[in-house]
Amino acid sequence: MALREIRTIGDEILHKASKPVEEITDKTRQLLDDMLQTMHHVGGIGLAAVQVGVLRRILVIDTGEEDFTPIEAINPQVIHNEGNQTDWEGCLSIPDQRGLVDRPMVTVIKAQNRHGEEFELRAEGRLAVVLNHELDHLDGVLYIDKATEINDLDDDED
Ligand code: NI
Repeated sequence: MALREIRTIGDEILHKASKPVEEITDKTRQLLDDMLQTMHHVGGIGLAAVQVGVLRRILVIDTGEEDFTPIEAINPQVIHNEGNQTDWEGCLSIPDQRGLVDRPMVTVIKAQNRHGEEFELRAEGRLAVVLNHELDHLDGVLYIDKATEINDLDDDED
């Protein structure tokens, strides 16, 4: 495993749409391992491949909650959205800011795992926020593109 460099705002790649993964190989699995390691290293809870400079439709999520098995989704597709919620979110590619964003309350996706097997995932509440945030990355969309309010994180605030 290896840490990868996280691309940050100003890097044009973040606005590009990622392409499907056509063949899941050892290289794909290496990327997944590196993405999880990189995300854990910086204390993030979600990461899309484009954020480490790879324009492929791959995302990982680990909320860090007890008993939470990290999610690895290759070629995720939304099959159902339900309800809505509005909450604050941040992004590893946009340091020191957060924004208020409308998201579905429930999102169901289908995707492939690291062995190419298809699975379905139902995300609700905060997990649906994280999932939709990462799905947006795959289309080159950042939360600041749709936030209704954006704040700078201010060290003096608390
Ligand atoms: Ni992000």
